[in-house]
Amino acid sequence: MEAVTPGEVSVQDEAVDKSTFKECNQIAFYRRQKLLHPGKSLYQALLDSVTLSDENVKFPIIHEENKVLLQVEICEIEGSIFRLKIDEAAPLRERYKVPDVLIKEPITRRLIISQKEAGILVLSNVNEDYKLQVTANPFQIELQSKAETVLSMNSNGLLYFEHLQPPPSDRKHTEENKDESSCDSSKEKQEDLGLWQEKFGRFLDIKAHGPSSVGVDFTLHGFEHVYGLPQHAEALLLKNTSDGDAYRLYNLDIFGHKIHDKIGIYGSVPLLLAHKPNRSSGIFWLNSSETLVDINTKAVAEHIPSGSAAETTKQRAVPVTDVRWMSESGIIDVFLLTGPTAFDIFKQFAHLTGTQALPPLFSLGYHQCRWNYEDEHDVKAVDAGFDQHDIPYDVIWLDIEHTDGKRYFTWDKKKFRNPRKMQEHLRKRKRKLVVIVDPHIKVDPTYTLYSQAKDKGYFVKDRNGQDFEGICWPGSSCYLDFTNPEVRKWYADQFAFKTYKGSTNILFVWNDMNEPSVFKGAELTMPKDAVHYNNWEHREVHNLYGFYQQMATAEGLIRRSSGKERPFVLTRSFFAGSQKYGAVWTGDNTAEWHYLKISIPMLLTISMAGISFCGADVGGFIGDPEPELLVRWYQAGAYQPFFRGHSNMESKRREPWLFGEKNTQIIREAIRERYVLLPYLYTLFYRAHTAAEPVMRPLWIEFPGKIETFGVDNEYMLGNALLVHPVTEPEAKAVNVLLPGSEEIWYDFRKFKRMEDPGTLKIPVTLENIPVFQRGGTVLPLKTTAGKSTEWMTDISYELHVALDTEACAIGELYLDDGHSFQYLHKKQFLYRKFTFHKNILSSSCTDESGQYHTTCVVARVIVLGFGQQPTLVTASSKDGKEKEVVFTYDTKTSTLMLENLALSVDADWRIHIS
Ligand code: NOJ
Repeated sequence: MEAVTPGEVSVQDEAVDKSTFKECNQIAFYRRQKLLHPGKSLYQALLDSVTLSDENVKFPIIHEENKVLLQVEICEIEGSIFRLKIDEAAPLRERYKVPDVLIKEPITRRLIISQKEAGILVLSNVNEDYKLQVTANPFQIELQSKAETVLSMNSNGLLYFEHLQPPPSDRKHTEENKDESSCDSSKEKQEDLGLWQEKFGRFLDIKAHGPSSVGVDFTLHGFEHVYGLPQHAEALLLKNTSDGDAYRLYNLDIFGHKIHDKIGIYGSVPLLLAHKPNRSSGIFWLNSSETLVDINTKAVAEHIPSGSAAETTKQRAVPVTDVRWMSESGIIDVFLLTGPTAFDIFKQFAHLTGTQALPPLFSLGYHQCRWNYEDEHDVKAVDAGFDQHDIPYDVIWLDIEHTDGKRYFTWDKKKFRNPRKMQEHLRKRKRKLVVIVDPHIKVDPTYTLYSQAKDKGYFVKDRNGQDFEGICWPGSSCYLDFTNPEVRKWYADQFAFKTYKGSTNILFVWNDMNEPSVFKGAELTMPKDAVHYNNWEHREVHNLYGFYQQMATAEGLIRRSSGKERPFVLTRSFFAGSQKYGAVWTGDNTAEWHYLKISIPMLLTISMAGISFCGADVGGFIGDPEPELLVRWYQAGAYQPFFRGHSNMESKRREPWLFGEKNTQIIREAIRERYVLLPYLYTLFYRAHTAAEPVMRPLWIEFPGKIETFGVDNEYMLGNALLVHPVTEPEAKAVNVLLPGSEEIWYDFRKFKRMEDPGTLKIPVTLENIPVFQRGGTVLPLKTTAGKSTEWMTDISYELHVALDTEACAIGELYLDDGHSFQYLHKKQFLYRKFTFHKNILSSSCTDESGQYHTTCVVARVIVLGFGQQPTLVTASSKDGKEKEVVFTYDTKTSTLMLENLALSVDADWRIHIS
């Protein structure tokens, strides 16, 4: 344990037990929502008052008992998305509507009223492929596609909307004021329901605006597989919840969080996906306050229409999944993503919240982090260690100790005397630096950042209007109010080279503790009654805090380069849309096998929620991994989007060469495989950026008709070409790998051998590597070898792995640009190539003529996997008609054809004929 300077907080203060955090039943709004049980809804739609405009359809609904009117607004958004909003018709004060998450005001399409009679209103979209049927009494909405009911809202009658009321003292105690949320006027009962204040241990949350929760149920018809709702340390498939065990979406800093737990950790994306063999659907609940989600999958009896009237009606059991969303405040603003494929859902979600930012290429390399690399000497020594051990890496990271007393944007004057020189040293070696910049600001009038922010009134306030002070690493701290656009602009300006002394353009940023983490606060976060910009309480914006910090940081990095360079910002806390600003990681995991195992479904879930650039701390942050676990973690991490080794202050040093020659060799090999794979990975990120396809994907989205894949979360696809099965058990001699699809061919990625028939295969494993398979029908672009870092690899030639399918065909792509600037966007400086293997011809052609980028790089080697017979002649021809004979070798045992010493331009068309 390091000595801490006065005011600073030691790491021990952070270690917490679970009683620090609420169980669902300790959350007042959840208890109130749960008092309403499934049954007939007390809401009725007043369909006579329906209005229709180009933008939407509106009608009021009324609560049978309290007579409060709510306004329902329905619209169709381009891309077959339906938006349903429910707000109070005449609220006492405006309710919070989440800003800045949708990339633009969605373009709506006019709905048509196709039927209006006897308490039923049917709305159709212009394409007439979907209908929304509104039933007046009880109020419910059904989404239908042709004859199929996809989902329904409020069919269990769980719409529960707490309208805003004057505080009890202002209230006339008249009968009219009695309603579902204030019917119990006895003081004790009110406190128990936490209407105006709520206690948790020694913490008191004063609710200036009283109860304001919203909730409603959805039924997904025919669906029993549901996914999404990151982040939890849980399995891929969402589990049924019981009372008090809902999935919680509330960003919290839980050091050493448990696994298989539904408590919210660090980040939240309120997106749920449901899948059945012929359809995927999504529900996006746009609410940034604390949210709880109940899931209940069950079988219901459905009548099978019988042929003749005489026959007795038959029944069959069909699955349905009920999903109940409950949020502490705001409005109901929900988007129904109609799919019908998972890829359509990803596009629909991206249409609303944006796609993954295209990362600078270096950030797809390996990152070496530790709390802490002590000083300049340490940084240089670790950097040199990678070269000495011939291990590629791109970025070294500095944690909080690099600062002057946890004052971000400063340097410890003794340990980092000359940060610029240190960065110049790294630059020469073609490497980068990432430093941590947390959102809390040390209370210290001599610290410019603090005094400026204080003077400008940029901190979050407490409920009495004073700057809120909490404890974090520097001791007493204030928290920047990133929800204020002016604060974000000012913060972004802090990254200007002239302002951030000692920073250079190889320095990038890590935003941590931005849930926000407040050490001695309730649940280690900010009080919900703290006050933000425009007087919104923290409860309204809680899950957005980290999202906004990353947004401002990314903007700052772009601005410091005058808009030229792509930023890299890693954040711990996130929300829907965070993908636009950079990468996320899964926070403080533990160096144990279970945490390696759970990192797979965690990353898959984050990926499906739009955030492709995600990773887990390799090795496990807390504790000391046994060498075998560390090796296995490197092997998994090498095939995951964000690849960073990181360790806690109290854990032993963990640079990859500290575990004996054999382990060093295996880790080196894993990292080198990662670097060789970069052309494929970068191309996948381009697809994520332009077409919202997740880089790391669960098997089911590639095999949507194969039910055996729906629950698989111990292996995954990287793009559509690679299936990766990390080894997550100690001393494993073999693993059971599911190679899906009876009509698929799979090849061993390293030995090129065609696997036996698909299905579940027992694959022997050694410590050397983890099973990876290439899917027949794909072309993988790779580099022929790894270099010291991505920048060292620019001129290294390419190699294509052409894996043939049952028709002896394959296709693949390669995306290429300068790897760091926005020229790909503004000047169309990129190459987007397509490789097609068909009728024994491999051709390279352009996929997007609008892009141009010159490279002298060549394709030097082509390996064709599953090539049926020994060829007699292989020739290569370029566009100008020149033809050359190609030297080849053919391995009859594995049916692999190897073409070497090619020099085919990457940026030109060519063909290889095999006869
Ligand atoms: C918590 C983060 O999760 C961890 O990665 C970091 O090392 C520590 N904070 C110290 O900054």
